[in-house]
Amino acid sequence: MQKIILVTGANGQLGSEIKEMSKNYSEFNFIFSDFDTLDITDEKAVVDFFTNTKPNYVINCAAYTAVDKAESDIDKAIFINDTGLFNLNHASVINNAKLINVSTDYVFDGTANKPYTEDHPTNPVTIYGKTKLMGENHLIGNNNALTIRTSWLYSSFGNNFVKTILRLAHTNPELNVVNDQQGTPCYARDLADAIMHIIDNCEKEITKFTPGIYHYSNLGVCTWFDFAKEILRLKNIDTPIKPCSSDFFKQAAKRPTYSVLDKSKIISTYKLEIPNWEDSLSKCLTLLN
Ligand SMILES: NC(=O)c1ccc[n+]([C@@H]2O[C@H](COP(=O)([O-])OP(=O)(O)OC[C@H]3O[C@@H](n4cnc5c(N)ncnc54)[C@H](OP(=O)(O)O)[C@@H]3O)[C@@H](O)[C@H]2O)c1
Repeated sequence: MQKIILVTGANGQLGSEIKEMSKNYSEFNFIFSDFDTLDITDEKAVVDFFTNTKPNYVINCAAYTAVDKAESDIDKAIFINDTGLFNLNHASVINNAKLINVSTDYVFDGTANKPYTEDHPTNPVTIYGKTKLMGENHLIGNNNALTIRTSWLYSSFGNNFVKTILRLAHTNPELNVVNDQQGTPCYARDLADAIMHIIDNCEKEITKFTPGIYHYSNLGVCTWFDFAKEILRLKNIDTPIKPCSSDFFKQAAKRPTYSVLDKSKIISTYKLEIPNWEDSLSKCLTLLN
């Protein structure tokens, strides 16, 4: 019988990439939902949805992701990122579904100077980071659940840094981009690919579904300035670009100075090959003007 994969928040960046990728996985039956069809904050709706559709796997792409807005929209951020995860975890346990949740580098305070491993102490300094950690915590003890933390997510779908830089490069005489925050971009298509690889390999019994927390982004390290410079270079755009410090932009939420994630655990557990950030950026840019 075909295994059922429920994707929540399916109209976002990551959800849209999984939707694209689902065309390569005809052996699975995908159910794509978003706020209009399954509001993850509605406990009864979630339990009923699971009872009716009986998913074997749940990939949670639903989240409150507006990092600055969250600082003043605390209740809503808690409701989606915390209560939503409680509901998904609860319904997954009742229905014996495997739950794959996606979280963020913002669970750390960004003061490290070497890549964050999964067991590094968390210390979120933003509402977004705090609510995402609250969500992660609901999965502790669920032996059928994984949390994958990622960073600097972008895609040809949705709004993100790559699209912002392309837009600004066409409308502004010059760009100022932050050069004192280090991290690694993650092409949402690669993350979608990794998640499907994990599910597919578990179904084929190549690897075992191993619960816990994992880190995933592309490989390499850069600053936002390096990232923007590479976007312009790959697109042959000659708008001048200048490095600046974080103080240059007033933002409601503090950004981590360092948010590189150590990916060795997910690579070794799930036999993944992770592309370098420049290669993936180049692929994504072929889809963007
Ligand atoms: N974006 C990043 O840079 C980044 C970095 C690190 C980690 N992450 C994590 O990666 C995951 C995917 O991020 P993303 O960028 O793909 O997010 P996204 O584009 O913002 O998509 C999130 C989706 O969830 C939906 N949603 C919001 N509230 C919902 C609810 N109550 N019930 C059901 N759906 C709801 C949103 O709908 P609306 O648009 O209508 O609200 C949207 O379609 C998230 O867990 C995020 O925290 C993202």
